[in-house]
Amino acid sequence: MQQLVMATNNEGKIREIRPMLEGVEVLALKDIGFTEDIPEPYFTFEENALAKAAAIAAFSRKNVFADDSGICVNGLNGAPGVISAHYSGKRDDEANLQKVLSELKDVTDRTAYYKAVICLVWDDEVYYFEGICTGRIIEAKQGEGGFGYDPIFVPDGYETTFGELPLTVKNSISHRGKAIRKMVEFLKIRSLPE
Ligand code: IMP
Repeated sequence: MQQLVMATNNEGKIREIRPMLEGVEVLALKDIGFTEDIPEPYFTFEENALAKAAAIAAFSRKNVFADDSGICVNGLNGAPGVISAHYSGKRDDEANLQKVLSELKDVTDRTAYYKAVICLVWDDEVYYFEGICTGRIIEAKQGEGGFGYDPIFVPDGYETTFGELPLTVKNSISHRGKAIRKMVEFLKIRSLPE
């Protein structure tokens, strides 16, 4: 079975990604003995995803993928974007989401999109897979599921938030689901006999 290291400590991401990678043995950072925070100092999803994947590939000498993602709110000029994880100044989902709600108080355009960029380091080559999910930010939290900004994000075509929708539905339309499925297709082709 193919082995892949998932370069993240984010439990929300791990919960979502594992069921989408059937047939692949997914190793978490703790499985490879990596216990530090991985720096993500850049201003694009692509650069941060590469920084995370490359750091873990160098540590483990295995094939690795990293997801860098965030939510971009159009009425806030794309914020929080790449700093979604610590928009309030700390890594605190509730404080981050409340900051977005308060900044949107007098803003009419509440459309937004989630973006995920996956960087795969496979046999020392680098590949990228991207997914976007459009929707809007509602005025108050609804639902306890998901993570991050999910209780305030309603995807296009739905009336309920990602915090209310079952994980299988979220994965079928989410930014991360789209990016992961592209990577899965790539891995299937890669593992065909030559
Ligand atoms: P990073 O990729 O580690 O920089 O962090 C991504 C951050 O973006 C998360 O901590 C969340 O705040 C936000 N985010 C990304 N994807 C999702 C999602 O699917 N649901 C909710 N929040 C998300």
